[in-house]
Amino acid sequence: MKRYLVTSALPYANGPIHIGHLAGAYLPADIFTRHLRLRGEDVLHICGTDEHGVAITLKALQEGISPKELVDKYYERIKSDFEKFGIDFDHFSRTSRPLHHKNAQSFFLKLHEKGHLYKNVMRQYYDPKIGKFLPDRYVVGICPYCGHTDAKGDQCEKCGRQIEPGELVDPKSALTGEAVVLKETVHWFFRLSQLKDRLREYVGSKNWKPFVKEFALSWVEELRDRAITRDLDWGVPVPLDDPDAKGKVLYVWFDAPIGYISATMEWAEKVKGDMEAWKPYWLDPDTRLVHFIGKDNIVFHTIVWPAMLMAHGDYILPTDIPANAFLNLQGRKLSTSKGYAIWADELVESLGQDLARYSVALYIPEKNDSDFNVREAFTRTNAELVDNFGNFAQRVLSFINRYMGGVVPIAKEFEAADRDLMTKAKETVNRYLKLMNNYDIRLALRETINLSAEANRYYEHQAPWRLRKENPERAKTVLHVAYHILKVLSALLYPYVPKSIEILWNYMNLPKTDFNFLTSYEPDIGGMPIKESKPLYRKVEEKTVRAWEKELNRRAKAIETTTKEDEPRIKYEDFARVKLKVAKILEAERIPKTDKLLKLTIDLGDERRTLVAGLGHVYEPKDLVGKLIVVVANLQRKKLRGVVSDGMLLAAHDEKGRPVLLTVEREVPPGSDIS
Ligand code: MF3
Ligand code: ZN
Repeated sequence: MKRYLVTSALPYANGPIHIGHLAGAYLPADIFTRHLRLRGEDVLHICGTDEHGVAITLKALQEGISPKELVDKYYERIKSDFEKFGIDFDHFSRTSRPLHHKNAQSFFLKLHEKGHLYKNVMRQYYDPKIGKFLPDRYVVGICPYCGHTDAKGDQCEKCGRQIEPGELVDPKSALTGEAVVLKETVHWFFRLSQLKDRLREYVGSKNWKPFVKEFALSWVEELRDRAITRDLDWGVPVPLDDPDAKGKVLYVWFDAPIGYISATMEWAEKVKGDMEAWKPYWLDPDTRLVHFIGKDNIVFHTIVWPAMLMAHGDYILPTDIPANAFLNLQGRKLSTSKGYAIWADELVESLGQDLARYSVALYIPEKNDSDFNVREAFTRTNAELVDNFGNFAQRVLSFINRYMGGVVPIAKEFEAADRDLMTKAKETVNRYLKLMNNYDIRLALRETINLSAEANRYYEHQAPWRLRKENPERAKTVLHVAYHILKVLSALLYPYVPKSIEILWNYMNLPKTDFNFLTSYEPDIGGMPIKESKPLYRKVEEKTVRAWEKELNRRAKAIETTTKEDEPRIKYEDFARVKLKVAKILEAERIPKTDKLLKLTIDLGDERRTLVAGLGHVYEPKDLVGKLIVVVANLQRKKLRGVVSDGMLLAAHDEKGRPVLLTVEREVPPGSDIS
């Protein structure tokens, strides 16, 4: 028996759980742990809410409640979301609990005592309006590299470059919109750079998914010391008797992973009733520590967290870090803040737990981002789970009940077709076990469904309903084999759809405990009575699919309108600085060696001017003469192809992007004001 400690990333307690979270970490982790448990391994699945950091304080500010009220509310909500979705944790804790605060502080102190931390002054953005330091992410400005106007203080989303404090042009607070200043502040830094060689060796020795390992290795080379404290009034206080520690808390990414340990300790105390029970999971090097995470958490789990554990010294290091890519929805990015998602609870309400889990499991983004399209997801769920597997189960059980006295028949003699199917089942199981070991959870499901399809073909081809009269012995053998395969399929599917499989096991009269048959056929399955069965699943109806499509369209539209509303508005005075006037075109000619540019002479009432306009590909110069147009009269002059353009004319752009001149609805004198 192996020992596993499996964790799922601690979700921020600032919103409900949606299918992106589920596909990214919690569902694969749940499937993996259920699989291990079924095989009798010693496994603990630990999680909890991440309740510190600015993500929390900011959301509280938006909702107009205190951070404490916010995390209390979302702790309950998230816990219930996971329960509804059948995500089964041994313990679900929270980082705001006293045990965790104490634990995180003693972790910090140990690093401090061992010389892994040092104090240093750094410059940090400060919002004078609210009198607070802002994390880099909450500062926006112009990217110094590409000029993108909406770059964040730590990174530009357009060109992808990292931005250092102080580099952003015209930095403003994302909270208040006010200009921010750089202010000096004292923080504790973690000597990460000192651990570079050990980290390189550690990551190098791991058999992680290629994209995770590559990402981690490239980070090792760029390792710099990092500040692990923050100026914030929400979080775990810095436990030092130092005037500089006042008003500072541990950085949320420092305390949160320690939460995995705290939650295990809490499990030992509260669930297991044995204060020592957490120890083998964190101290024994034979334990396999597995962190399920989404790809935005890779750096912290593959580099910073192992570095923290190395520096501390008492605990084991992560064995595997099965990170997943992102899940999109109907081709768009999910967004909790904008409300574009399918929430865990509503999917379960609509489909039931197992169909909901199955449809999400189909799209676990194991290697690349994947797209959850409701029509495709629900159609496949209907075809694979309901039609393919569900019908097979129901046909086999109802046949045994109706024609074989409700007792699993004993096989006297196998034919080639029987042996063939049983061999296939054995091969499937072997491949499935390998895939599960590699966290290829989607592929393991594919294997299972392929076997189910084989089983259906076998049943169809053997046609026991005919054999029953023609060759009753043979009919018995076929049902015996079918029951055996159903048992194998049930064990392979259990981690994905546990509720219905438990019902099935009840019908089949199988205890959940002994599943060693997974790799070997047991002839002794014959002779057992089974129970009356009902169909395990109901299909997702077309009207449900349509309703989801409509609702998601509505949610997508709502995002578009909110972004339009969120666009910064200008004051009237800003607009009034633009002088718009009516002008009459007096002359028009092409500028040689260009295909678009025209030189226009215009009458502005009291003056004549020259304009250069890119109209030549759409308008003939002679057709323009005499037209009344709209121009920006106070624009800075600009030289284009040797001609100075003194103003700019306005044009609309049609669906192909071609200019369409703006004109006035009734003739007015050239030079007339526009406002
Ligand atoms: N709360 C983080 C997120 O949602 C994950 C924290 S994982 C932990 O991205 F390791 F820090 F706990
Ligand atoms: Zn940029």
